[in-house]
Amino acid sequence: MNVKLSDGRVLPMEMHKVRIVQQANLVPAAERLTVLTEAGYNTFLLRSRDVFMDMLTDSGTNAMSDRQLAAMMVSDDAYAGSESYYRLQDAVEEVFGFKYVLPVHQGRAAEHLLARLFVKPGDVVPMNYHFTTTKAHFNLLGGDVLEILCDGALIADSQEPFKGDMDLDQLRSIIADYGADKISFVRMECTTNLIGGQPFSLANLKEIRRIAEEHGIIVVVDASLISENAYLIKQREAEYSDWSIKAIIQEIMRQADIMYLSGRKSCAVRGGMIATNNEQHFKAIMPWLPVYEGFLTYGGMSTKEIEAMAVGIHEMCDDNVAGASVEFIRHFAERLIEKGVPVVTPPGGLACHVDAMRFASHIPQHEYTAGAVAAAIYLASGVRSMERGTVSMDRDEAGNETPSDMELARLAVPRRVYTLSQIEYAVDRLAWLYQHRDLIRGLKFVEEPPVLRFFFGRMEALDGWGEALVRAFQADFGPDL
Ligand code: F0G
Repeated sequence: MNVKLSDGRVLPMEMHKVRIVQQANLVPAAERLTVLTEAGYNTFLLRSRDVFMDMLTDSGTNAMSDRQLAAMMVSDDAYAGSESYYRLQDAVEEVFGFKYVLPVHQGRAAEHLLARLFVKPGDVVPMNYHFTTTKAHFNLLGGDVLEILCDGALIADSQEPFKGDMDLDQLRSIIADYGADKISFVRMECTTNLIGGQPFSLANLKEIRRIAEEHGIIVVVDASLISENAYLIKQREAEYSDWSIKAIIQEIMRQADIMYLSGRKSCAVRGGMIATNNEQHFKAIMPWLPVYEGFLTYGGMSTKEIEAMAVGIHEMCDDNVAGASVEFIRHFAERLIEKGVPVVTPPGGLACHVDAMRFASHIPQHEYTAGAVAAAIYLASGVRSMERGTVSMDRDEAGNETPSDMELARLAVPRRVYTLSQIEYAVDRLAWLYQHRDLIRGLKFVEEPPVLRFFFGRMEALDGWGEALVRAFQADFGPDL
C-alpha cells in the first residue's frame, strides 16, 4: 500500500508487523575488500555473514508469513499420498485454475522436465526473453532459444509500460519460417527477469495465445513472478485497473496450456511446480518425476514447503503482498533517479536495476561492466547485488565472448525483508559510488567455468581499482563503516 504524506510525498507502507528478526552485520570497507578479493570479485562467492543487505536475489529469501509458518507445522510427511500435496492441489486449482500439479524441487527442475518432453534437437523455442537456467536446459537438449521482445524493450531508460511483451509479427514469421512442428512451445516469462523485471500485458499474451492456437502450438508461462506481473497489469493496463489480483492471475493462467514456476519468488517458499489442465501432458511428465525429482506427491520438495506454498499461493493474491516488493522497488528507483544514478525505467518487479552501461560507460563489455559495478557496490556499501550482463552470458562454441544485451547490477528486493531506512542507506551509498565512478575499472577472469560461469567464476580487478575505491570511501566515511 502507498501512503500519501502531508508534504505530498508517497511512501510505500509495510502492511505487516515484524515479529521475528535476524541480526545483520556491516563489516567495514577494508574487510569488504579482503573478502571480495577472496571471492574473486564475484558476489556469488561472498559469505552471507559479510553481507549487510543481501540483494543478490529474491529467490528463496523472502519473509514468510505467520500463516505459512503455521501451515508448515501440520505437514504430512507421507512419501506417497501426502495430504500436503492435496492441499497444494486445491490452492493451485482455486487460484491458478489448473487441475494437474507436479511439484519439483525448484524452477529449473520444471524447465528440465519440460525440455525433456518437448525440446528436440533442431527445435526452436520463441520466448519474450530467456532466463539463464531456461536457456541452459533448452540448449542442452538441442533446442535454440529465440528472443522476440517488442521494440524498445532493451532500452534501459524508457517509459514503455510492458517491456516484457513479445513482438507478434516476429512470432508469426518464426512460425512461417520454421513450421509449427519445429517449435517446442512458445514461452512467456512473467515480470521478465533479465531485462529488468519487466511485465508483459494481458493484451499481448492473449494475442500470443490466439496465434499459437491457430497453429496448434502450446503456450507455456513461466509464472515464477506472476503476482508482480499481475500487480503491474492492474497499475498499467487500463482494462484491468479494477480487477482483483486474483482475477488477473487467473486470466494470465487461462492463456497457458502449461505453467511452471519457481516457488522461491511470488510463492515465498523453496520449491517449484508444473501445472496444467491437459491430462496428456500431465501423464507424459509424471513418470519422469520420480526419476529426477521424487514421487508425484512431493516431487523433491519438503512437505513443509508444500504446505507453505499452498498458503503462499493464496496470499500472493493480496494487493499488499503482490505489491510489497514492487512498491519498494519503485521508491528505491525514484530515490536513485533523484540522485542522478542511472537505473532501468520504468521500475518493474524483482529488483531495482542499476544500468551499468550508463553508470560506468568507461568500462567496455569485455571488461565486464556490470560485474565491476556489482563488485564496487559491495565495496561501497556491504550491499550484495548480482551481475546481470556479459558475465552471465557464456562464451559461444568458438570461445568468443557473447556481449549481453544489457549490463545490469541487479539489487533484488526480497519480499518484506528490508525496511525503508535500509533502502535509504543503499540509495546513499550508490549515489556516493556514482560520484566516484571514475575509480571503478574492469575485471578479468582468472578462473572461468565452461557453463553458467557467473556462479563460480573468479575474477581480478584491473589495475587494483578495489584498493583505490576503498581508500576514497574511508576518506569520506572513516575506517569503521
Ligand atoms: N524462471 C525465472 C523467471 C527465474 O527468475 C528463475 C530463477 C527460474 C526460472 C529458475 O528457478 O531458481 O527456482 O530453479 N531465478 C533466480 C533469480 C535464481 O535469482 O532470479 P529456480
